[in-house]
Amino acid sequence: MIQLYRYGKPFETDTILQKPEVRPEGTLPYFKTEKDGRSFSCPLKAETAVYGLGETVRGINKRGWLYVSNCTDEPAHTEGKHSLYAAHNFLLIADAHSFGVFFDYPGELTFDIGYTDLNMLRVSAREPADMDVYLVEGDGPEDIVRQFRGLIGRSYIAPKWAFGYGQSRWSYYTADEVREVVRRHRENHIPLDSVYLDIDYMERYKDFTVNRETFPDFPGFVQEMKKQKIHLVPIIDAGVKIENGYDVYEEGIKNGYFCKKEDGTPFVGAVWPGKAHFPDFLDARAREWFGGKYKCLLDQGIDGFWNDMNEPAIFYSEDRLNRAFAEIKKLEGRNLDVKKYNDLLGLINDLSNNPEDYASFYHVCNGKRVRHDRVHNLYGYHMTRAAGEAFEKLEPEKRILMFSRSSCIGMHRYGGVWTGDNRSWWSHLLMEIQMMPSLNMCGFLYAGADIGGFGDDATADLLLRWIAFGLFTPLMRNHATLGTREQEVYRFPEALPAFRNLIRIRYALLPYLYSEYMKAALRDGMYFKPLAFVYPDDPDAIHVQDQLMIGDELMIAPVYVQNAAGRSVYLPEPMKLVRMRSPKDFSEENLEKGHHYLPVPLDETIFFIRADRCIPLSEAGESVEEIDFGSLALLGNVQTKAVYQYYSDDGYGKDYDNPSHYATITMDREENVTAEGKMPLRLAVFAHH
Ligand code: NOJ
Repeated sequence: MIQLYRYGKPFETDTILQKPEVRPEGTLPYFKTEKDGRSFSCPLKAETAVYGLGETVRGINKRGWLYVSNCTDEPAHTEGKHSLYAAHNFLLIADAHSFGVFFDYPGELTFDIGYTDLNMLRVSAREPADMDVYLVEGDGPEDIVRQFRGLIGRSYIAPKWAFGYGQSRWSYYTADEVREVVRRHRENHIPLDSVYLDIDYMERYKDFTVNRETFPDFPGFVQEMKKQKIHLVPIIDAGVKIENGYDVYEEGIKNGYFCKKEDGTPFVGAVWPGKAHFPDFLDARAREWFGGKYKCLLDQGIDGFWNDMNEPAIFYSEDRLNRAFAEIKKLEGRNLDVKKYNDLLGLINDLSNNPEDYASFYHVCNGKRVRHDRVHNLYGYHMTRAAGEAFEKLEPEKRILMFSRSSCIGMHRYGGVWTGDNRSWWSHLLMEIQMMPSLNMCGFLYAGADIGGFGDDATADLLLRWIAFGLFTPLMRNHATLGTREQEVYRFPEALPAFRNLIRIRYALLPYLYSEYMKAALRDGMYFKPLAFVYPDDPDAIHVQDQLMIGDELMIAPVYVQNAAGRSVYLPEPMKLVRMRSPKDFSEENLEKGHHYLPVPLDETIFFIRADRCIPLSEAGESVEEIDFGSLALLGNVQTKAVYQYYSDDGYGKDYDNPSHYATITMDREENVTAEGKMPLRLAVFAHH
């Protein structure tokens, strides 16, 4: 059951398409509400867990920290941070009586979850809030999430090829560098489906251009890559370079599509190209215009994009920079004592992403002017919406890959997310593990982090452990920033066989992983779940913060500690441990319910199959296209009978709900396997070769 409570006159965020009736006069149950709807507080019992908030720092249970929904270009994801790139305002408060609550509010919102007072949850807006609050009640956490997801609408579905392994770096500067990356993967038989183009493929960082010197004959190059079964995925940035003669800039100016300052002139902020304007994605006209621009790359054969810097990130605003220079001039030649020195630093450090700058420009939404800071968290969503709405028109039959850095709930219908600029740190591997189920609750199923870490230098062992986990995430992309150690897996020759095998395991598992992703998307379910959602009555399971359930069949327990030879794992029921070294080299062991210490060598990934469940695997392949999703080998943990509902489609079209995409696969105790459904399937038992 979902109920809507309204405070003031909320801004229409377009997050919820079909709203329930507003409760008359009702005050939000469970919470003490301040009259102006500015803050809501709810006492927490000792045993209560608080889930949700999607992309945020810290654990799966969010208790014990202060989180601020304020989409921020934050490259240092340390524990002390309060905001990352996203604003996912859904909470699930779980104990014997669980409920969910969603704050549909586009401005800054603070979630004090046992920070000020260990036993109190307090959600507060900075200003007296115009806000819709949705209360979701149901039959335990999974049901509550399902209802919430039904409310916000079906999650974005990526093309099947985007479930393959992707390689990225800021930047591969030329077509030849990209060719080399592909060649090294192919010659080493490391599966690969995509290579990402970071900002340097553009001409002077201008969106929707391609540098013709470094990428001559781009459409030809896209086709050349396609022949090698590689999809090129270019980046698109929010800021539009100010440059005479650049069509995007000129059209934007002519038609008034950019965000404007109080005086009506377009706001100038700097990003990669220097001075830029920011499309007003909240204006439907501007959205349609910008979305239409993706066509020029689609026409050149591109079928995937990543949207970046759309918090939006602002290196400096023109006005603030001018003021800073004037102040710095005053300091020139003076003896700078500590205070003056700090003032000087402040003038520079305060240039980027300055809150005052966000309060200095405006959007026009449905004919009304609204100050940016009041709707700040919608910007990335509406940029991605611009693309998504355009794709629907331009390529109605085809899935286009799209994921974004900034997001809020609502955007999940148009694209996935990657979690931005993490580091090559062990703690960030754990952070990714913990973020995934939280993102799923908020509708973001197509998600992943920069594998190996974006900032700082990766080592072979970190990358091995990261891939051993990352092979389960829908978005599986290795990405690193400029200046860091090269991090393509072939840069680590001593570990190359292990990398090859682990990535091949991803491809072997794809029939299962893709099927689970699709079912989660089509049924408003979760792909990754906390153990607490599946075993809510098991006091040991509900505290586990570093193991995840995948679908209804698997549990994973990734190793995320440097030099750990293995890890402790909690089994909430007897399960079969599968140790995989390659799709052809694996071992199985039945384990009892309870706590176990399991050694896990660097070249293995482990997972657990629940009782009376089985999963389908493929013969693997070096690209998704090579995988035969109709020829399956079943791996099961069967005491009586396992029934698996398999989903498989062509992976490119949008005929999602066709019942012929489902087959019911059964495995009995003697390992006889049968399938029912229209899909032609060849089944075998997954076996050692
Ligand atoms: C910031 C993004 O988070 C990162 O992934 C990208 O490489 C850089 N921008 C450069 O485009």
